[in-house]
Amino acid sequence: MSDIASVADEPLTRAQIHMGEPEGEPLLDAVDLVAGYIPGVNILNGASLTLHEGEIVGIIGPNGAGKSTLLKSLFGLVHIHSGKLLLKGEDITNLRADKLVSRGVGFVPQTENVFPSLTIAENLHMGAFQAPKLFNERFDYVCSIFPKLGQRKNQLAGQLSGGERQMVAMARALMMKPSVLLLDEPSAGLSPMLQDETFIRVRQVNKAGVSVVIVEQNARRCLQICDRGYVLDQGRNAYSGKGRDLMNDPKVVSLYLGNLEEEVQEEGR
Ligand SMILES: Nc1ncnc2c1ncn2[C@@H]1O[C@H](COP(=O)(O)OP(=O)(O)OP(=O)(O)O)[C@@H](O)[C@H]1O
Ligand SMILES: [Mg+2]
Repeated sequence: MSDIASVADEPLTRAQIHMGEPEGEPLLDAVDLVAGYIPGVNILNGASLTLHEGEIVGIIGPNGAGKSTLLKSLFGLVHIHSGKLLLKGEDITNLRADKLVSRGVGFVPQTENVFPSLTIAENLHMGAFQAPKLFNERFDYVCSIFPKLGQRKNQLAGQLSGGERQMVAMARALMMKPSVLLLDEPSAGLSPMLQDETFIRVRQVNKAGVSVVIVEQNARRCLQICDRGYVLDQGRNAYSGKGRDLMNDPKVVSLYLGNLEEEVQEEGR
């Protein structure tokens, strides 16, 4: 942990944060976010990220680094004390989650992301409650990605396996046709085979025109499908760059990828 701290103590320059980024205006632009849950206790200490149209951007980092907090601050669930958040150039800093949904942002939280006492179809209705007329069209769309959901639409979400629940959660967030999808650890707790399936689905969703920010413990696998990645440590950017470059960077490997893999293995024991 002490080695990691020394890296995070050196703030990255803007040029380092934007390493490998495509030209043009980002779809989503988070600049120097300072945010936290309790007044005076900041969890994000100046975190930045951009997401361009068509990209999959990954966020990796040790437990407690602030990855979920960053996603929640992008979705109006954690108050941003300073810094700014732009969607297609418009200021959406601290906009409420329901307003963000109607502007095309979808979010799948790390835990408790389905209503267990509702059926699959009812969960998906919740995802489309702002636009019920869209339901049939969007239901067909999400079932084309997750065919099992259509076949089992009357089953209670609480009776599903972990992998199936993750499908319902992702499908629910897709019901409003988001242009940006924020995913918090979609492969957590799944078997290696189901993890692979999750990453394939994420790519499929991306290919269908949804730009994705994905937080993952399964860092190496995540970086394989990402256009770019950010390593977050102690609420700040520690490294960023193209997914492949990060995976091959000896410092990132020794400080983060090895450690993260150990954490994942320990959690799986
Ligand atoms: N609701 C909350 N209220 C107060 N503090 C919180 C809350 N949620 C998270 N924190 C604190 O914020 C810090 C960052 O937590 P966060 O969940 O963002 O980390 P993470 O990088 O997502 O970790 P993990 O890999 O374990 O999911 C932790 O110290 C945590 O204790
Ligand atoms: Mg988290």
